Amino acid sequence: MVNNIKSIKAREILDSRGNPTVEVEIAVNSGIRARAAVPSGASTGIHEALEFRDADPKRYGGKGVLKAVENVNKIIAPELIGKDILNQEDLDQLMIKLDGTQNKKNLGANAILGVSMSIARAAATAQNMTLYKYLGGSEATLLPVPMLNVLNGGVHANWQGPDFQEYMVVPSGAESFKEALRWGSETFHTLKKVLKEKGLKTSVGDEGGFVPTVSSNEEPLQLIIAAIEKAGYKPGTDISIALDTASSSFCEEEKYLLRTEKSELDSEGLVEKFVSLTKKYPIISVEDGLAEDDWEGWKILNNKLGHKITLVGDDIFVTNVKRIERGIKEKIANAVLIKLNQIGTVTETIAAVKMAQKAKWSAVVSHRSGETVDSFISDFVVAMGTGALKTGAPCRGERVEKYNQLLRIEEELGDNAVFAGRKAFER
Ligand code: PGA
Ligand code: ZN
Repeated sequence: MVNNIKSIKAREILDSRGNPTVEVEIAVNSGIRARAAVPSGASTGIHEALEFRDADPKRYGGKGVLKAVENVNKIIAPELIGKDILNQEDLDQLMIKLDGTQNKKNLGANAILGVSMSIARAAATAQNMTLYKYLGGSEATLLPVPMLNVLNGGVHANWQGPDFQEYMVVPSGAESFKEALRWGSETFHTLKKVLKEKGLKTSVGDEGGFVPTVSSNEEPLQLIIAAIEKAGYKPGTDISIALDTASSSFCEEEKYLLRTEKSELDSEGLVEKFVSLTKKYPIISVEDGLAEDDWEGWKILNNKLGHKITLVGDDIFVTNVKRIERGIKEKIANAVLIKLNQIGTVTETIAAVKMAQKAKWSAVVSHRSGETVDSFISDFVVAMGTGALKTGAPCRGERVEKYNQLLRIEEELGDNAVFAGRKAFER
């Protein structure tokens, strides 16, 4: 059969931080070949599927992925060779079974995901389709609003910047993806000028955003508003702001430690901070406002702000339908962050998106802080029609490649392309 898998080969490559990650190459009987590379987080949620690392201190500081590579080549490949690449779901289920654990700790989510993504790519090529059309069908016409992380903090900035991890500009008032990206990029470059004028640093963090030394978590908001205006746009109308505070990363013993402000807050105190910031600034979305197990705090946050802005759960949901289902039942948020490697297969990621959509929640597709030039998520977000994507600043090749792929998709769709715009953040 022409669509049956001929070979699967994994290898260890490097990601954007120079750490090892898994790349998988698949060959099909027809002669088609496809490749996929797995991203890697730094502010990783404790409930995520396991990323298999060798823990051999003699190689890459213990971060090697040779065992995950071997799991693909010696365990997964023999089971999948000869099977039809068009049966994504069956093949993903087979790998889930082969692993046999809840969090994919036997084979590694990095091993399984590399195979899963490369199967999808090969299948799209076999069907003579682009990836977004193969995964999303003819309805896949919605281009996402890009959420560009122009100012980095937290662990992505080695705690040299603000405590909050991500300050994103969201050009939702644009007419098209292409225009939104231009507005975002112009704002990014203007922000550099604003920082320079104030004598602040313009070096960048893991996701390509600037890392100025600031004395509060509010200061970046003032700098970004200045940049939006100076670039010629209206804050809140043309371009809004989104935060990923990644609060798990500064939560210790149920207290939130804001180093830059030398303050320590409980859940309610942090929620009050968000309430006051959203009154002062055009913030349309807050991700991980509270920590990954602070379900009670999340409830308070959703009660206070859930009717006004998008509240995205990343570490608390980890793209896992069981946790998302609980979140929906307990009404603790109104949106979910979607990362393929948090769960480990394309099939399970699609299920997570669909669960959110069924509950009328938003779904924001996301890169990881450790990336490669693989732009799978760009096709994926259009296929799923979620209308929102975050993939860093318009800076650094591995970030920009995702945005560039969306330019190509928008161009290919032509008049059929629909830009998600402000609707993506309406509550
Ligand atoms: P990570 O950060 O990839 O380091 O986990 C991204 C995020 O928190 O959204
Ligand atoms: Zn996050």
